[in-house]
Formats: sequence, structure tokens, C-alpha cells
Amino acid sequence: MKRGVFIVFEGIEGSGKSTQAELLAEALRRNNIKVDLTREPGGTQAGERIRDVLLDSSLEDMHPRTELLLYLAARAEHVAKRIRRKLFADKAVVISDRFTLSTLVYQAGGRELDSKTVSRLCKFASGGLEPDLTVLVDLDVDGAFARLNRPYDRLEQAGKEFHEKVREAYLYFARRAPKRIRVFDGAKEKMMLHEEIKQVVLDLLRIKGIL
Ligand code: TMP
Repeated sequence: MKRGVFIVFEGIEGSGKSTQAELLAEALRRNNIKVDLTREPGGTQAGERIRDVLLDSSLEDMHPRTELLLYLAARAEHVAKRIRRKLFADKAVVISDRFTLSTLVYQAGGRELDSKTVSRLCKFASGGLEPDLTVLVDLDVDGAFARLNRPYDRLEQAGKEFHEKVREAYLYFARRAPKRIRVFDGAKEKMMLHEEIKQVVLDLLRIKGIL
């Protein structure tokens, strides 16, 4: 085995992706698999500081290019300082709550920055690292926002139309790469959904020789 396995959870806010990422991490750890659960933006000291700026609801009018570059700065740090080490040195299963696909759907899909430019900059930030599997937890925007019983952060307050575009962009990428991006129904009961995701991941770990 040359490296561990890189799994990314994606979905709009309130879809349940973070809960599912945590449930998967716990289940794999119970199977004595080495797991690193992390998130974007974040996962490193600098990345968590950048996250605070990005989600600060008082910075509402941040320029979309500034926003893009901050997400990518957090990613560059995350890949260089954490993910590569966990994958290549520790050969762990790295589970990241969001990665490059978030940038493609939020900054290109949602903010409408040029998608080729965003894609090129994403490759630069990640050094070309790609997930082995992306778990897309899909839920309609009304259903997802009904679950957010806390004050909205900067991105959440961007409005329903913005998040509809983001969801559509997610589904567009999933249709283009159905093997790499698997769509799961976020409306399902939490543990039922967890079981479905876990089976797909365990199959992947068997193929990769981790199980
Ligand atoms: P969350 O991880 O708690 O959902 O919050 C992260 C927010 O940042 C969420 O609104 C999605 C947004 N985001 C982007 O817009 N672009 C990105 O590249 C990433 C990683 C997150």
C-alpha cells in the first residue's frame, strides 16, 4: 500500500454531511483503522484562523476573488501540513469535511467566478491531490436550512437562490463523475444513511487493501 485513502464529504449547509463524516470516522476507528478526521476551511492552525475570517458574518461584502483565495490558502496549508503526511507517511484514511469540490460549486457555481480559472487555481492549491471518493450528501435547500437552528454565518446568509445554484452545481459534477462522486439522500434517517455510506466506504477500503 503506497498511501492511505482520501475520502471527502460534501453537501450544502444543513445537509448532515458533518454528522455523517463523524459517524464514519467512529465506525472505522472501531474497526481499528487509522483515521484522520479533518475539515475545510480549517484542519491546521493557520487554516482555522482563515476559517474565522471566511465565516465572519460582519464581513458580508468580501470580494468573491478574496474569498476564493482565502479558501485556497487554507487548502494549500491543509494539504501541505496535514493531509499529505497522514496519507503518505501514516497511510491513514483521511476524511475531510469539504475539499476542492466545495470551491468549484461555491466560488464558481455560486459566486459565478470563471470556472476554468477556479479549477486551475484549485489544482495549484492542492498540488493536484484528489480524493479517492467523494460522498455527496444531497438535500433540498429548504430542508437543509430548516435544520440550521443557529445564527447564519457569512456564507449561509447569502440567500436561497445562491444555495440552489450550489446544490445544482454539486449534482452537475456528480452526474459527470458518478464513480468518484457518490450521491446519498440526506433526507434519510441518520443511521440508515450512515449504514449506506459505510458499505460504500468499506468496499473501497477492501479494493485499496486497507481491510
Ligand atoms: P461548513 O464546513 O461548516 O459547512 O462551512 C464552510 C462554509 O464555507 C460553507 O458555507 C461552504 C463554504 N466553502 C466555500 O465556499 N468554498 C470552499 O472551498 C470551502 C472549503 C467551503
